[in-house]
Amino acid sequence: MSGSTVTPWVIGNWKMNPVQADAQQLIQEFKELLQNNDISEQACRIGVAPVSIALMNVKAAFENAASPVHTVAQDVSRIAGTGAYTGEVSAELLKDSQIQLVLVGHSERREIFADSPQILCEKVKNALNAGLTVVYCIGESLEQRDAGQAEQVVLQQICDIAPVVEAEQWKQIIVAYEPIWAIGTGKTASPEDAQSMHAAIREGLKQLTPYGQQMAILYGGSVKPENAVELAACPDINGALVGGASLNAGSFYKIAQAFAETE
Ligand code: 13P
Repeated sequence: MSGSTVTPWVIGNWKMNPVQADAQQLIQEFKELLQNNDISEQACRIGVAPVSIALMNVKAAFENAASPVHTVAQDVSRIAGTGAYTGEVSAELLKDSQIQLVLVGHSERREIFADSPQILCEKVKNALNAGLTVVYCIGESLEQRDAGQAEQVVLQQICDIAPVVEAEQWKQIIVAYEPIWAIGTGKTASPEDAQSMHAAIREGLKQLTPYGQQMAILYGGSVKPENAVELAACPDINGALVGGASLNAGSFYKIAQAFAETE
């Protein structure tokens, strides 16, 4: 069965970009595009994930946009609440600042900052318990794909967090499949390969939760306007997590439009 009744999400992951002046310009240009031709929340939900110091400014700048644009945190502390934890931002503090979504488990955090399955469980648990929606990122390396282990790796990454997700909290999870070899490389999984992995992820989710059929499963890895339409046409691809192309207002808008029109 397809997952095509799921409202898509298109989220721009700005990573450690851009400087403030460029961010303001990017927001302005994107708001103008929405002003000319808005995208309803029923057709496609839109989010952007700026660096943590910019979260509040970006949120404020989008407040009067013609379509809602959600502000998404790129990470959250493994520590809950408040306290003497220099440099950390907890799920409760994100919630207190009206930030509703957070990325957890991006491959850059797993690889460069040693976010292990144990740490990711703590982050996911804190975020869910604070009432946030978690965009949980998964994906295999090129070596794992070449060794025929892609599906097994990805399904294991989902199973890793299952022990900390309470039955009703699966509704607060969006999954983002981002094959590591496709991130920032210009290489995208073919729509067939991506759909086949997304279908396997959906089956895995359905075994864990009755909400599996309705959960959004986003694709990430060199998503551009040129490949967005084909990806959006796949029944189990319910949106995109966009890196590089989200730093260009026109490209990001076209990607959101592609998903909005497919539903
Ligand atoms: P690119 O779109 O630049 O490949 O990045 C994908 C990504 O990592 C989004 O989280």
